[in-house]
Amino acid sequence: MRILGIETSCDETAAAVVEDGRQVRSSVVSSQVKLHAPYGGVVPELASRAHVELINPVVDEALMEAGILDAGELDAVAACHGPGLAGALLVGVSAAKALALSTGLPYVQVNHLEAHLYAGWLEEPDLEPPLAVLIASGGHTLLVVMEDHGRYRMMGQTVDDAAGEAFDKVARFLGLGYPGGPAIDRLAAEGDPDAVAFPRAMLDEGYDFSFSGLKTAVVNHVRKHSDVATRDVAASFQEAVVDVLTTKLLAAADEAEAPTLVLGGGVAANSRLRSRVAEAAKASGRRVFLPPLALCTDNGAMIAGAAWWRLRADGPTPLDAGVAPSLALPTISEVGVRRRSLRSASADDL
Ligand code: KG4
Ligand code: ZN
Repeated sequence: MRILGIETSCDETAAAVVEDGRQVRSSVVSSQVKLHAPYGGVVPELASRAHVELINPVVDEALMEAGILDAGELDAVAACHGPGLAGALLVGVSAAKALALSTGLPYVQVNHLEAHLYAGWLEEPDLEPPLAVLIASGGHTLLVVMEDHGRYRMMGQTVDDAAGEAFDKVARFLGLGYPGGPAIDRLAAEGDPDAVAFPRAMLDEGYDFSFSGLKTAVVNHVRKHSDVATRDVAASFQEAVVDVLTTKLLAAADEAEAPTLVLGGGVAANSRLRSRVAEAAKASGRRVFLPPLALCTDNGAMIAGAAWWRLRADGPTPLDAGVAPSLALPTISEVGVRRRSLRSASADDL
């Protein structure tokens, strides 16, 4: 089954064709980074307009790369319907629904957070729940135990800024540009992670995270010590974020007795987080799955991958469904009422 996945929730216009939820046949990502960089962050209206201009060429290229001459050769069309920027989401969802309507193919709406989680299967088809998953992006920081397909136990999330947001805000303050995560990651490689002892908020308090105090601590420190090397601040800040993320991921895996750790979302591209989580997994005898960088940040393949599982469980989405800018990851209490997991859904449901 070949599914076209479309992603326009923020500042990437992306489309991909994925076969059977696992094999990526094509993946095209057009980044708007240059468009938003002068403003130091994503400008929603500019993002929507750019998505409108880019969506058709990006979809065409994804189909062409996958060797699909006519969209009718696909088996379904999927789009991310939330969470994200309303105007941006509308572009991808409208494009997918238009394609579904004109070809008669089923339309599938996909939760962006669930898609980040399913990016794992695109590289590691044999991944088996239970998994302890950390999804850390510009908008979210979630610690989830995936007990089965479609069954998520929420362990913790951020009470203020998302981890990626903290990277972006600190980078902006340090004059490192946008997006901040990759800039801090690069500079931190030359700095001393022990130079400044930044706070590790809520380290011993359950599984929730807080990053806004850390951001303030960075600002206060730099204002007080104007001679401090920016690379040392970057490395010490990164270490504080990574410390908390790694410690809580391991603790959640312990509690849930999950033998496998998975990272997802843009912050999962962070080199220090990847190496710390890999070390921690090794030390605790766990498997770890770190998606390749292109599958950590937003892309269409993760949407098409998650759509395959969702289609098997829920069937097609009606074409009158809209966008859901504040959508959350469906956790077990909500999913439980459906009384079945994605795995047990049969192909007849289609
Ligand atoms: O998942 P994503 O592409 O979009 C959202 O759903 O938000 O994540 C983007 C976030 C940005 O905050 C960016 O700064 C961060 O991921 N990011 C990183 C790295 N690469 C991207 N953060 C830390 N280190 C990186 N190497
Ligand atoms: Zn994302």
